[in-house]
Amino acid sequence: MVYETVPRTVRILLLGEPGVGKTSLILSLVTEEFTEHVPPKAEEITIPADVTPEQVPTNIIDICIPEQSLEQVAEEIERAHVICIVFSVDRQETLNKIATYWLPFVRDNCPEDYRKPVILVGNKIDLIDYSVIDNIWDIAEEYPEVDRCIECSAKSLINVSEMFYNAQKAVLHPINPIYSIEEQE
Ligand code: GTP
Repeated sequence: MVYETVPRTVRILLLGEPGVGKTSLILSLVTEEFTEHVPPKAEEITIPADVTPEQVPTNIIDICIPEQSLEQVAEEIERAHVICIVFSVDRQETLNKIATYWLPFVRDNCPEDYRKPVILVGNKIDLIDYSVIDNIWDIAEEYPEVDRCIECSAKSLINVSEMFYNAQKAVLHPINPIYSIEEQE
């Protein structure tokens, strides 16, 4: 097993069902406040190295399924170093779609011998008073590319910067070996 060379920039892609809060998470990170009405898709954002904990320039990319073709989303998966799949903790179907749709879609668009790290993000924890993290372990077991899971709220600004920091860390300090050359031996 070898690890992928650590990149000089980190490209973070947010995926997930419509309405789970992808754009809100990006805008809450950047503005440090929650805006009720956000555009369908945030512009690509570059965070300069000196304001990131790991001192690495970081690009954050939003998607908006109704506005983008699946080919465009697939291209963004190919370009990303780490993928955050967001679900809404108050909508079970958005969590179900992670295993039935999003993780297989990400796999289909990554080389077989290099699985990009995935962070599972449960957004909108301000709406519930319990944790859904226990429902995620089965998914993480089935998909070893799931590197970390985090619950957050774009609205209450809980764990928002931590979520992006964890995505950076998954690239720069992977827990799992994310690149295997076994098949080539
Ligand atoms: P698409 O652009 O359709 O893919 O949606 P999206 O995933 O980018 O979601 P968006 O950021 O547009 O948010 C959808 C709705 O959820 C908006 O009404 C937001 O105000 C709301 N929302 C986003 N994050 C939170 C949150 O943490 N808590 C609550 N209560 N509402 C949120």
